Amino acid sequence: MKALVVGSGGRCHAIVEALSRSPQVDKIYCAPGNAGIAALAECIAIKETDVEALRDFALAEGIELTVAGPEVALAAGIADCFREAGLRLFGPTKAAAQIESSKEFAKELMQKYDIPTAAFRTFEDFDAAMEYVKAGSLPTVLKYDGLAAGKGVVIAETMAEAEEALRDMLLDSKFGKGKVVIEEYLEGPEFSLMCFVSGTEVYPMPVAQDHKRAYDGDKGPNTGGMGAYTCLPFISDEDLAYAMDKIMRPTAAALFKEGCAFSGVLYGGLMKTPNGIKVIEFNARFGDPETEVVLPRMKSDIYQVFCDIADGKQPTIEWYDFATLGIVLASKGYPGSYDKGFEIKGADKVDGSVYHMGTSFRDGKYLTSGGRVMIVVCKAPTLREAQQKAAEEVGKIECDNLFHRTDIGDKAFL
Ligand code: AMP
Ligand code: GLY
Repeated sequence: MKALVVGSGGRCHAIVEALSRSPQVDKIYCAPGNAGIAALAECIAIKETDVEALRDFALAEGIELTVAGPEVALAAGIADCFREAGLRLFGPTKAAAQIESSKEFAKELMQKYDIPTAAFRTFEDFDAAMEYVKAGSLPTVLKYDGLAAGKGVVIAETMAEAEEALRDMLLDSKFGKGKVVIEEYLEGPEFSLMCFVSGTEVYPMPVAQDHKRAYDGDKGPNTGGMGAYTCLPFISDEDLAYAMDKIMRPTAAALFKEGCAFSGVLYGGLMKTPNGIKVIEFNARFGDPETEVVLPRMKSDIYQVFCDIADGKQPTIEWYDFATLGIVLASKGYPGSYDKGFEIKGADKVDGSVYHMGTSFRDGKYLTSGGRVMIVVCKAPTLREAQQKAAEEVGKIECDNLFHRTDIGDKAFL
């Protein structure tokens, strides 16, 4: 069988690697892919959002399964386009992907179906939004209604910060003209619950925790994710059952009822607050870097799982029990500006998985080419051991312009 994976980061590398373990898969293509993925798949120079070109490629090559990685491809309607052409694609339609691409859609769905989330109001008018913020308490959470690559959320501690953010989102064209969801500030540990969803059938993956801030101790700016791990001691079986029964299954059922049945990965960004588990956000795809620590635990043939979900059949999904922990190596300066083109050595010495996020390959050398460059993922019987192992293994990567957090996983032991 031939498979096509759409995407280019570490998440995509982990998906390609999982597919390469399937006995059913003979050949993997990746569009556009990256220098690390090129070791496992043939990289094709088609942009993630060029859905017609991707469709034509899949038709011409006789691709049996396409996996849509990033949100931009889903929001561009890749699933609709492929299905119209009679091609099998793993991923939701544009309508169902609104659960991620529109904060307002997601919040209204949760409100209508009683799915626990922070209280909110939506605004288009700057003055009305300011008035609402002034009448409420601080901190307050301001979310741009649209895809903003993780940069559309501002937690304002002061009125001045709130005003500046609302100006950016509603008056200036920083993100394009839009709406803002203003919501109640919640507190508690966050975790990611990704589920395979086919209509009203929902199958959970092991829960993971991302680390969004750039520096140790959750300091510094928000990033695309600086590390992740699985096996979260602070999420009990009861917590998981609650999250499935009150959040993930009802959300799939709600989307089904609204006429935009979901097929693919529904990602719940959840928070365990003193008043119960609540939704912070939904994504319509695999999380990054959660995927890099979750998929190594999949025992089942992922090609079969993807096909079964896409075809509306019941999949068999089994997981290994071990813990995993991944540490991201990022370019110094990220998520601000950074230099590129530094040689990276030692990835071949790592006892674990190294997924490439932003690298290039030139004259026999791997070079840095992005903000997040690589993630080193280790597995072990316990989280402590996985954490120690990852700390040792990440030290084997030699490069003059990378930094990483040294506290990934610490929150599990608080
Ligand atoms: P989002 O893009 O919606 O996941 O938001 C990014 C980050 O902002 C989350 O991972 C949280 O850490 C934080 N955040 C979002 N919404 C809230 C909220 N209502 N209360 C507290 N923190 C939040
Ligand atoms: N890890 C957060 C995300 O994928 O959006």
